[in-house]
Amino acid sequence: MPHATALTNIGALVTNDPALGDGSALGVIENATLVMEDGEVAWVGPAERAPAADTAHDAGGRAAVPGFVDSHSHLLYAGDRTEEFNARMSGRPYTAGGIRTTVQATREASDEALAATLDAHLAEMRAQGTTTLETKSGYGLSPRHEARALRVAAASEVDEVTYLGAHVVPPEYASDPDGYTALVAGEMLEACAPHARWVDVFCEEGAFDEDQSRAILTAGKARGLTPRVHANQLSYGPGVRLAVELGAASADHCTHLTDADIDALAQGSTVATLLPGCEFSTRAVYPDARRLLDAGITVALSTDCNPGSSYTSSMPFCIAIAVREMNMTPDEALWSATAGGARALHRTDVGRLSPGARADVALLDAPSHVHLSYRPGVPLVAGVWHRGVRVP
Ligand code: NIG
Ligand code: FE
Repeated sequence: MPHATALTNIGALVTNDPALGDGSALGVIENATLVMEDGEVAWVGPAERAPAADTAHDAGGRAAVPGFVDSHSHLLYAGDRTEEFNARMSGRPYTAGGIRTTVQATREASDEALAATLDAHLAEMRAQGTTTLETKSGYGLSPRHEARALRVAAASEVDEVTYLGAHVVPPEYASDPDGYTALVAGEMLEACAPHARWVDVFCEEGAFDEDQSRAILTAGKARGLTPRVHANQLSYGPGVRLAVELGAASADHCTHLTDADIDALAQGSTVATLLPGCEFSTRAVYPDARRLLDAGITVALSTDCNPGSSYTSSMPFCIAIAVREMNMTPDEALWSATAGGARALHRTDVGRLSPGARADVALLDAPSHVHLSYRPGVPLVAGVWHRGVRVP
């Protein structure tokens, strides 16, 4: 028997469907009801027109938004980098080299320990309103360790799994980076492709150069994976243009962009994913989202949650920084943290609250979604529904 649950008395419901509500990109409906059935949104609209439901939850006039879509994280890891963070806050700069600390700890960890760490972060994220999550390998860096990390992810509640064998060159290949590139594009890819949908490369000085990145992403494509790229994080470079050239779903970080990079993104379909937690935690200069938005480029916001460069699991925190430091409006930041993330993951079933979407809702202890940036650091997520079921 289908069971319909209504979320009633929503003061302002963000649907991300411009055809609904106030006509803005966020499609805000005031005094709304949302009906969920079989894990999907069955109906949204003004309360006075709502159909009957089997059970109801009174939102008490508060705002509700689509559950956040966190399209970039690194949660298949073990160990801790508190010392590195401490040193950084005393002036030591962030480099890609810190990744190797986590690689060592991750290789030593059991499958159960990896799964437990992943699940703990997922629960932390859910409580903060994240209902769709992508995560990556990248701390195993051998065929066996990368494949088992991806198997752990595939068996979890993570929605999207990415193969990042090309995170850094591991110590045992220090003198043969091209040999490692061949491994990532060959034997390791074969072991990992069955467990992932995406292939990612950290295209950066100290990680993988343009030719190596192209070889790995092209091999991943030939094996049925869709590319995404860690691009232009620490310096200007070829990452963004390569992402567009290869039709990547997203170019992530986008911290150092030339006008040519902006032009390339504007002409392609690659989403620019900004990761404010990373600039925050590495004391780097924030990218200017306005430059991207004014060029008509789709922007996603994500946590990049990882033990090194950005150890936050909070999408509301990232929204608040993006508004304050990256020249986004509160509306743009919310859209990017929901619909933008969905675009970056080629998903049409999440990041919106209109009929047929997954019933993923974050109820805010606030009258408007604007409070997510107006009240930074305040735990405003008062209730979360994932696939129509209330998250404890
Ligand atoms: O997205 N840039 C590369 N990878 C991660 C950092 C991983 C780490 O420092 O452990 C990032 O920031
Ligand atoms: Fe990352």
